[in-house]
This record gives sequence, structure tokens and C-alpha cells, in this order.
Amino acid sequence: MQSQQTSAHMGMNRTGAKMSPIDVSAMEEYAAASPVSEFEGEDTMAAMRIEAIAEADTLGSVPLPGTLKGMMTTGVSMLKGDNPAMLIDKLGERLAFERTGTRLYEALITKSMQLMPPGDPRLTVLQRIHDQEAEHFQMLAGALQSLGADPTAQTPCADVAAQLSSGILQVVTDPRTDLAQSLNAILVAELADNASWELLETLLRQTGHDEMADSFGRALSQEAEHVMAIRQMLEDSVMASA
Ligand SMILES: [Fe+2]
Ligand SMILES: [Fe+2]
Repeated sequence: MQSQQTSAHMGMNRTGAKMSPIDVSAMEEYAAASPVSEFEGEDTMAAMRIEAIAEADTLGSVPLPGTLKGMMTTGVSMLKGDNPAMLIDKLGERLAFERTGTRLYEALITKSMQLMPPGDPRLTVLQRIHDQEAEHFQMLAGALQSLGADPTAQTPCADVAAQLSSGILQVVTDPRTDLAQSLNAILVAELADNASWELLETLLRQTGHDEMADSFGRALSQEAEHVMAIRQMLEDSVMASA
């Protein structure tokens, strides 16, 4: 069973090159004997990437609004010179991120309950953040519906957000990671979340959706609190074990 804070300890880690000095010198000899011109791995890789970029399609599309009201709203926005597809894409991205955020906190709370003393006040904080992420998700679903968009659709930016969060989710749900390692992963999510909410607010105001931007004000300040709370929790965890 790992410790309550961090599981860092001295052990039989064999990943460093210094574990086998003989092999290191053999590797150095080989590298010294191979002319640079023979090593074209990087060029080949770049060439393959350039080719793939040239041939690639985009990451899907933003679905057309499914309701008549939505179509009218979108039509009006287009006349105003807005790009409603971008707005729906970014709202879809935030919705996807908040949904994953809720799942992240569920996993972190389960882990924390095993690693923290019973009744630890940090559990209350984590539960509160979890509930707020779930609220944000619901709020975004409502916002998309008010534009006539389908909140269940995976928009291109939502797809990217899901890819980004997959590593974070893997760290938190890995049974071997300790509290500090999991908090570190959550901090990455919260920092991105914070910046993305700010960007969404800017986009909303620039496209004349001030009312929606105002209604997101509380979520924005809650997200700022999440970053501070998780940073502090991570610092406490690391310092307690140092
Ligand atoms: Fe969030
Ligand atoms: Fe958050």
C-alpha cells in the first residue's frame, strides 16, 4: 500500500543508462562510427509528416443546428458576420472537457478516499469541485440547446479535447499513481480549463453573445478557484513527503 501523500521511494529502478556502463560505451562507439549523413531518421519522419498533412482531411465538422429556431439563430448570426460554427465548436469543446472533468474528479475522489484519513477536509473540496464541473457541463448543454445545436454531438474541438484529456484520465485512474501524481494531472486539466473558459468568454463577447458570456461569469470564477485549490493541494502533498 502506498503512502498517503507520495509513493516516491528508492528501489530497483534499472531505466538509467548508468545501470550498464559497458553498453553505454558500445552505443557511443557506434554513434561515433556512423557518419551523420547515414542517419536520416529525422528527415524521413518530417517528410512522412508533411505528406500526411497534405493528404489529411479535417477533424470532422460542426453539425447543422437541428431545430428551426437554431437554424434561424444561426442564419441571423451568419448575416451579422459571425462564425456560428466556431462558437458551437468551442461550446462543444468546453462541454466535452467539463464532462471529462467530472469523471476525473470522480476518479480522484475514489483514490483520495483510500489515501486520505477519513473526514479529511480536502475530500469536501474535491466533492465541491466535482459538483461544479457537473453544473458547468449542464450549463453548456443548455447554452448549446439555446442556439439550436445538439449538445450530444462531438464537435471537432471536442474531439481534440477528448484526446488531450485521455492522458490525464489515464494518470488519475491508474491504480499505482499516488495522490500528488494524480493532483499533478488534474492541475494540467484545470490550467487548460481556465484558459479555455477565458477564451470562450472573449469569443462570446466578440460575437455579440454578451448575455451568454454574463451567464458564464460564475463558472469562470469557480474555475479560477479550482486552479488555486488544486495547486495548493498538490504543494501540500509534495511538501508533506519531502
Ligand atoms: Fe471545468
Ligand atoms: Fe475546473
